[in-house]
Amino acid sequence: MILGISGGIAAYKSVEILRRLQRTGADVVPVVTEAGRKFVAPMALESLTGRRVSSSLWNDTDPIPHTSLGQRADLILVAPATADLIARYRAGLASDLLAATLLASRAPVLLCPAMHTEMWEHPATQENIDVLQGRGVHVLEPAEGSLAGGDMGIGRMREPAEIVEKAQQILLSDSPLTDLADAARRMEGVRVLVTAGGTRESIDPVRFIGNRSSGKMGHAIAAEAARRGAAVVLVTASDARTPAGIEVIRVQTAAEMEKEVLSRFADSDVVFMAAAVADFRPRVEAGSKIKKSDGPPLLELEPTPDILARLGEEKASQFVVGFAAETDDLVENAKAKLERKKIDLIVANDVSAADSGFEVDTNRAVLLWRAGEVEDLPLALKSEIAAAIVERVAGALED
Ligand code: C5P
Repeated sequence: MILGISGGIAAYKSVEILRRLQRTGADVVPVVTEAGRKFVAPMALESLTGRRVSSSLWNDTDPIPHTSLGQRADLILVAPATADLIARYRAGLASDLLAATLLASRAPVLLCPAMHTEMWEHPATQENIDVLQGRGVHVLEPAEGSLAGGDMGIGRMREPAEIVEKAQQILLSDSPLTDLADAARRMEGVRVLVTAGGTRESIDPVRFIGNRSSGKMGHAIAAEAARRGAAVVLVTASDARTPAGIEVIRVQTAAEMEKEVLSRFADSDVVFMAAAVADFRPRVEAGSKIKKSDGPPLLELEPTPDILARLGEEKASQFVVGFAAETDDLVENAKAKLERKKIDLIVANDVSAADSGFEVDTNRAVLLWRAGEVEDLPLALKSEIAAAIVERVAGALED
């Protein structure tokens, strides 16, 4: 594993990260940028690893270190990742050993950004992060806290324990699940429509009925399909970051989502309905804010359109995937939904567990196919579950 260290004050934590990684049995090779050397003493890293710490492309005895390091790595962890390093990586520059190693590697990459709030929130940095995530790079986004110079805000690098845990999760995803997904069936020429997020149904101009869906699963599916070369349209009710390289349509309500989905259905080959669509909405939306002094309002609700069931009815050759969030009788309920909505595949999640379903980054799922086949996808990152789902659907399209 490579531990890349770029030049920010958070580099003082990299020695602890290194120690923790070594305790997990990892063989860690530190690569430090010139600026990184100002914050962490190479001697400390050399004593702990027994390796010479390189920064430059030009002073190593290995004739091609910039390629050999990246090629041999099972993971490249960059902590801290400065705005400058992130920009260089996004641009594909190979201006020092760390940037060149990133460019010359197919290993998974985990970036742990650390910088001032203004630099993190700058559109340039945000765009760089979006693009890198779209390329499959993992990003452990910075937390809020005290920053160098006494400032407070978002930009603080995550704690070493959390970074090491995330690195392990990524390495662990080297499971049979991802092995299969890594076969990377391509989807060039396939038109994919994905929905994501929880819809919001207005009560009045300031209040709405919503749900706990974060949109992460749908966004991960859209990213995965795009990574495989599909032309992806994402209709999302989520504020979460959207992957690069796809068409994004933002919606709020079930009715808006229905309109956008139906108008694109005929031109789609595969639809992933990952959105948590509200089942009910207020029959009328108040035109102005309901006054607290008028007492609690009695809300009359009406059903929203079931978009997925409509797709099941209208479907020609499209492959339609539904999602089922259940708290009990997962498989039975999902099976009933598969039949009722006349779809090809249903991805069922148990949302009662703390580590799967809504809001969190991990998930476990059961895939139920129309032909009756059932497959368990064990606990994994949502990006990995997405990879497995998309892989299997791409396979079904080929058959
Ligand atoms: O019936 P239930 O809401 O559990 O079904 C979940 C699946 O149906 C999801 O794929 C969701 O996107 C879709 N759905 C829909 N329109 C609704 C409700 C759910 O498309 N009104």
